[in-house]
Amino acid sequence: MTAVLEVTHLQASIGGQQVVEDVTFSVPAHGITAVLGRNGVGKTSTLRAIMGLIPRTGEIRLDGERIDALPPHRVARRGVGYVPEDREVFATLTVAENLALAERGPRTNRELVDALFPDLVRRRSQLAGTLSGGQQQMVSVARALLNDNRILLVDEPTKGLAPKIVTEVADALAEAARTVPILLVEQNLEVVRRLAGDAVVIVGGRVAHAGRAADLLDDPELTRRLLGVHAEAHA
Ligand SMILES: Nc1ncnc2c1ncn2[C@@H]1O[C@H](COP(=O)(O)OP(=O)(O)O)[C@@H](O)[C@H]1O
Ligand SMILES: [Mg+2]
Repeated sequence: MTAVLEVTHLQASIGGQQVVEDVTFSVPAHGITAVLGRNGVGKTSTLRAIMGLIPRTGEIRLDGERIDALPPHRVARRGVGYVPEDREVFATLTVAENLALAERGPRTNRELVDALFPDLVRRRSQLAGTLSGGQQQMVSVARALLNDNRILLVDEPTKGLAPKIVTEVADALAEAARTVPILLVEQNLEVVRRLAGDAVVIVGGRVAHAGRAADLLDDPELTRRLLGVHAEAHA
């Protein structure tokens, strides 16, 4: 299988403190690849390092080409879409304005996004700050989908959402993944089981396991050892 993104011996630091020790994995060109691990192991830092938002060393290849020396805006322009933890929508702008600000070129995927998020079409004139957490998450994913990206990096999209809304966000990601591969940081293992083909587990800033997501989740002992939880407990 061809990889869209290859990360090799990635190291990264925040304020001089190394938070990504040695991360190597690749993301297939189709479907959803999960990044798993307990709190604080370096999942968000790994995504931020790929975007160039924190100092990093190592090799990062997009479609075989090095992007590890590029600043964030050029990583984005190469086609790496980023949906950060905590969504970061513009609260005092409308839904339509939030989306308009994200559009990079004259030709965008407006029709796809409108079809995927009918609720946002109905709420075009609503201030984003007055949306529910789930709706804000939809805005955040929609912004990334507007442009033709080679891959999306999505950080904990279901965090803090009610179960019904978790399902809606997962539905949207499943639909989105039909058009673009997704690297997904996700703590909800039911969502991982439903969406992810492959899974990468980070422990202490290093990759401790990589393989098929189902194989990991079907192994309670491995899941417990790597993630500190029982996969079944989330069912
Ligand atoms: N802004 C920051 N300043 C200092 N340390 C940070 C900062 N953000 C994260 N860290 C540290 O970096 C490590 C990895 O954090 P993070 O990548 O956010 O982990 P995860 O996303 O897996 O929960 C943690 O030890 C965390 O305390
Ligand atoms: Mg995080």
